[in-house]
Amino acid sequence: MAKASLMALVLKTVCISFLISFALAAEKLNVVGKVYCDTCRVEFETKLSEPISGATVKLECKKEKDDVMTFSREAVTNATGGYSIPVEGDHYEEICWVRADKSPRADCNQRMEAWERSQVELSGKDGLAEPTRTANNLGFKKKEALPGCPQVLKEMGFPNGKVEPVP
Ligand SMILES: *[C@@H]1O[C@H](CO)[C@@H](O)[C@H](O)[C@H]1NC(C)=O
Repeated sequence: MAKASLMALVLKTVCISFLISFALAAEKLNVVGKVYCDTCRVEFETKLSEPISGATVKLECKKEKDDVMTFSREAVTNATGGYSIPVEGDHYEEICWVRADKSPRADCNQRMEAWERSQVELSGKDGLAEPTRTANNLGFKKKEALPGCPQVLKEMGFPNGKVEPVP
């Protein structure tokens, strides 16, 4: 009798842990983020930064050890500059980046290092339970700064209304 109930308990435990690992594996990771136009040409966000709709972003993963590409997928930003990329598989011991690839705005398509790429962690084995992985903002620099920029930069604490290079 005792043996039978012990057996039942073991079976139950095995069943439950199987179900849990199945549920975790079924939970797909998703990379979300936003693409902005740096309208003040300062390479950081201001209140005049504009979301870019219709921008192409690329998510790519490579193996840490030999640089072999394991995953690649594109997405296009929506009306509020947002994108969401569903991820296939688990990318443990890989390096994954999202990159601002193309801008639909001819007046705002200059690349800048600060907003060009963001690294994202795309493995369920890294201890992060959250299935939604948010990338840093990506973006492009506008060709001409908006006329309102000096005022906004003053409000942000730049006394001359521009970002002076450190001497
Ligand atoms: C744009 O995409 C983001 C990320 O998927 C989402 O959170 C947001 O609700 C979307 N906005 C619109 C207007 O569709």
